[in-house]
Amino acid sequence: MKLADVKHIGVVGGGIMGAGIAQVLAVAGYQVTIRDLTDPIISDIKDSLIEGKWGVKRAVEKGKIGFDTASQVIDLVSFTTDIQDLKNCDVIIEAVPEKLALKQEIFAELDNIIKPEAIFTSNTSGLVIEEISSSVSAQRKQQFVGMHFSNPVPVMSMCEIITTDAASIDTVEAVVGIAKASKRAISMVKDQPGTYGFILNRVFAAAYKEAKKIVDDGLATPEDVDKAMITGRNWPAAFFGNRGGIGKEW
Ligand SMILES: NC(=O)c1ccc[n+]([C@@H]2O[C@H](COP(=O)([O-])OP(=O)(O)OC[C@H]3O[C@@H](n4cnc5c(N)ncnc54)[C@H](O)[C@@H]3O)[C@@H](O)[C@H]2O)c1
Repeated sequence: MKLADVKHIGVVGGGIMGAGIAQVLAVAGYQVTIRDLTDPIISDIKDSLIEGKWGVKRAVEKGKIGFDTASQVIDLVSFTTDIQDLKNCDVIIEAVPEKLALKQEIFAELDNIIKPEAIFTSNTSGLVIEEISSSVSAQRKQQFVGMHFSNPVPVMSMCEIITTDAASIDTVEAVVGIAKASKRAISMVKDQPGTYGFILNRVFAAAYKEAKKIVDDGLATPEDVDKAMITGRNWPAAFFGNRGGIGKEW
């Protein structure tokens, strides 16, 4: 699948991440179908996409997007509980809960349903992509990468693209192109069996471990650790306090 052929993207799991991912893809002009489990869940997803804190209505009110773009998002995003409705998608972005067995099971099912040339991606926070993709065919493994967005997606532009040894150049180029079109700041990173996390969460976890040790050893208070990082490294928020810096722009 080449970037130019990508028109329709299926988002599997429309929770906190899936709804935000669908929104930025639709702003970029992609047709998006969100698949979730039940009609009441779908109704909540629609509400959050339109009325939610990071939804299009507030984005218009804050001047982040125009009314036309908000209408475009509403027109381009559709919803389903039927996985068969994804069969003609060019790309799948999976955003179901962080459970390896669940993701493997969903990808195995998708592999049988969705056209062979379609690209599969996972928004896992840190599971090994090679392990998630172990349930799909050898061909699909060449069309399988990680696409790790940051929450809230409409505000935080990061997108880590996680490549495996099996991933084809066309697949990586297509996913990079989709991320660029969706105005993401892309960081490329290789999959590494035996680890959890890519760049963002590994670096944060290492820093958090050290910060916690300083506090646990009674060397400084949580407030002083946070203050040092915020005022000395210009972090918008640190480890212990209210992480209200996240998405404060809106
Ligand atoms: N929340 C974050 O800050 C964040 C950030 C980056 C990455 N992630 C990752 O994104 C993924 C999703 O996280 P989230 O916070 O959006 O979770 P969430 O619980 O908000 O949403 C998950 C959605 O998946 C749906 N779901 C469950 N099984 C399904 C199935 N078989 N088919 C379709 N939908 C199904 C649930 O009904 C729910 O709506 C996880 O892998 C998580 O680690 C989360």
